[in-house]
Amino acid sequence: MKFFVDTAEIDAIRELNDLGMVDGVTTNPSLILKSGRDIQEVTREICDMVEGPVSAEVVATDFDQMLKEGKHLATLAPNVCVKVPLTWEGLKVCKILTGEGTKVNVTLCFSANQALLAAKAGATFISPFIGRLDDINIDGMDLIQDIRTIYDNYGFETEILAASIRSANHMKDAALIGADVATAPPAVIKAMINHPLTASGLAQFVKDAESAGIKIV
Ligand code: E4P
Repeated sequence: MKFFVDTAEIDAIRELNDLGMVDGVTTNPSLILKSGRDIQEVTREICDMVEGPVSAEVVATDFDQMLKEGKHLATLAPNVCVKVPLTWEGLKVCKILTGEGTKVNVTLCFSANQALLAAKAGATFISPFIGRLDDINIDGMDLIQDIRTIYDNYGFETEILAASIRSANHMKDAALIGADVATAPPAVIKAMINHPLTASGLAQFVKDAESAGIKIV
């Protein structure tokens, strides 16, 4: 499973990128707002740092303006992936941009039928939002499973990008189901390493190494 980092914070991306954990980045208007940066400037900076796709989201909701924004975002860097909402206007823009060779991430997906439509429109990525479904007592992982089944049934090449990930368990469950990509905040990716037995085991080894006077170099 590929890891995308769901943030526009440069330092946080760099830290994980240096560890080889970053296959791409996703941003959205809320994350841009949080960063306090200009979308074009920060998108260029992230694209320079990361080799994989960097999702930058359009803000218009009507077809003409959305297409204009999408085309402009695509000029910022070769690895920009234009993010469009799951509306008919968004799917129309998706069809055109993917036809021109631009990667498109269709976002705000909350149903298998929406994911099916996005695949038919040629989306590079579909972003089902797990956490936001969990928030309203619908199991977000069931949606990932349904989309996996449908895409595999028909050989759709659209990649499932599990989004709105809130915990390390979400990462594990998305990987077990076979999501192609999971995008998560840096803190969630970092939390994946935690295990109390690793911490207590290491503390014991350090103590015993001291008692034994072990010196390697
Ligand atoms: C990523 O592409 C999405 O915009 C993001 O994962 C949404 O996450 P949230 O539901 O935590 O805002």
